Amino acid sequence: MGRVLDAVIVAAGLGTRMLPVSGFVAKEMLPLVDVPVMHHLILEARAAGCNRIHIITSPSKDFSLVLDDMNKKFPSYPNDQSLLNPIGDAEYFIHYQHEQLGLAHAISMASSSISGPFLVLLGDNILTPNHAALSSFEPSPVSKELVSLHQETGCACSSVYDVGIEAVNQYGIVSLDGDRVQSIVEKPNQEVAPSTLAFCGRYIFTEDFSTLLDHYPVEEHGELQSIAILEHWMNEGKLRAHVLESTVSWYDSGMPLVWLTSQIDHALRRPEYGDKLVAWLNQRMNQS
Ligand code: UTP
Repeated sequence: MGRVLDAVIVAAGLGTRMLPVSGFVAKEMLPLVDVPVMHHLILEARAAGCNRIHIITSPSKDFSLVLDDMNKKFPSYPNDQSLLNPIGDAEYFIHYQHEQLGLAHAISMASSSISGPFLVLLGDNILTPNHAALSSFEPSPVSKELVSLHQETGCACSSVYDVGIEAVNQYGIVSLDGDRVQSIVEKPNQEVAPSTLAFCGRYIFTEDFSTLLDHYPVEEHGELQSIAILEHWMNEGKLRAHVLESTVSWYDSGMPLVWLTSQIDHALRRPEYGDKLVAWLNQRMNQS
């Protein structure tokens, strides 16, 4: 079984729900208080053992600064140097997706540079149980756990998250038998949802992905191409799920209100800011 050495971060989307900011700054570069989303993802992928980082982008977005080593510019930065140089000694690759035709199409831009299984991270989604002060920053272990599941099973894998019954109509929802995915229903109504477990933006794709792109072409499946490929693995009994603990926070920089609440939630949990933010919020709520 091949090791998971490549990570693909998809960040080429138009970000229309985050306009106007996304017209000027990629939503994948927005800060979760003080650390950009992209930093969280690169450091999570590296903590999972990936030393080849692929960023899928579009010609109108610029991720070049994230590839720089800012320690040279700020030599006395007191916190972990990886926060100013997330790529570190990993190799990186920039791939352009010129037409925004969905997740599988975005990933396919990198597939000729990858052999073996690879990690996929949605570029606007942070999943982490960690909210330590910046002085003791730790990357999310979510991708590392997914890589372990792949190493145990040899199968394609996805993290899944319990979103509660009220939200099932916004996600791809799965039913499980043990850790094997039994069914996938896209954005079901509450009455027909097979569970409350949703795909949440972390996957291991196996090396047959490139071949499956030809079997399930984007011309036929459109944005649901990735679901068709996941269903293919599921029907062969080769799609496993890792259910995330409720201690994991799921933050999404793709929608204004969700991102605002994500920032507040994280800040409330951060030791440097939590108490002061609570005091300010209490004072603010008491104003007429
Ligand atoms: P989204 O569907 O949430 O992003 O994709 P979007 O298309 O940018 O959003 P809206 O609907 O216009 O507001 C999740 C992630 O996948 C990437 C996005 O950049 C985002 O990080 N993506 C999406 C691609 O790279 N290519 C695509 O064709 C679609």
